[in-house]
Amino acid sequence: MARLHTGRYKVLTRYRSYHGGTDTAINLTGDPRRWPNDYSNSGVVHFFGPFLYRSHFHAGTEQEETARALTHLDDVIRLEGPSTVAAIVLETIPGTAGIMVPPPGYLAGVRDLCDRYGIVFIADEVMAGFGRTGKWFGLDHFGVTPDLITFAKGVNSGYVPLGGVAISPPIAETFAHRPYPGGLTYSGHPLATAAAVATINTMAEEGIVGNAARIGAEVIGPALRDIAARHPSVGDVHGTGVFWAVELVANRETREPLAPYGSSSPAMNAVTGACKESGLLPFANFHRVHVVPPCTVTDGEAREGLALLDEALEIADRYTVA
Ligand SMILES: Cc1ncc(COP(=O)(O)O)c(C=O)c1O
Repeated sequence: MARLHTGRYKVLTRYRSYHGGTDTAINLTGDPRRWPNDYSNSGVVHFFGPFLYRSHFHAGTEQEETARALTHLDDVIRLEGPSTVAAIVLETIPGTAGIMVPPPGYLAGVRDLCDRYGIVFIADEVMAGFGRTGKWFGLDHFGVTPDLITFAKGVNSGYVPLGGVAISPPIAETFAHRPYPGGLTYSGHPLATAAAVATINTMAEEGIVGNAARIGAEVIGPALRDIAARHPSVGDVHGTGVFWAVELVANRETREPLAPYGSSSPAMNAVTGACKESGLLPFANFHRVHVVPPCTVTDGEAREGLALLDEALEIADRYTVA
């Protein structure tokens, strides 16, 4: 849609991202699942996003990280040719790539760049949307309005497969008098969409988004900061709501990850193995363990899981230079 709306071809996205498994989506994806699918002819250009703990920009503060990451993106747009760029696609808070909450001002700055150059801003809310970050959408933390929002997963709690895209009026107008040239077997599937309506109503009635926010602020955040203070293997913890990552390092000074980018390591296998033995099913990606319970998790369940992670991290500590 962004390509047809702008008449341009290129799409920009950050390296640390995951956007899906179909054609352009896997090319947009930054993480190594792209590599076997990428023939560099998809019109996708990757850039570096902000993440202060592993800053690509030698930044010392969040303000510096925001400013330098935006200058970098502006440079990439200008060097690629603004008149060739259809869209910038960003997970508002990248998920599998590391749950890196963007620093203040970053997404607003991306919105400004898109406005300046006539580029469509596409927010991927597939993982962050529908409560996970402690707000209905990850975007709601930043007060930014994109032109397209993609969503799936939490929209109906995954009871029935459903994904969709929210379309702003100017882009909808592009397709008001011409058909969108594509079709899907299950477009607007009544069962999936009924499950979405029921899920959204139930989430609102039962205060589930508020629960995710509270658990993050009162239980997970404090517990992870305490874990970070006690375990030398924990370099950093970051997240919001029920969406957190624990960065495991071999050396706290150098921040060397406990597994290289794109693979695992004996240390990470030992940690995830210990989690599983104790009854905790961890989501681990490279050198990170993610803490992503359901939005409905109770205080007691969250504490139980965090205690098991705490124990397993003693194993990680043995692989870390104290
Ligand atoms: C952030 C993000 N975007 C997109 C996708 C792909 O979504 P779908 O499977 O609905 O195409 C995923 C799937 O894991 C995801 O995590």
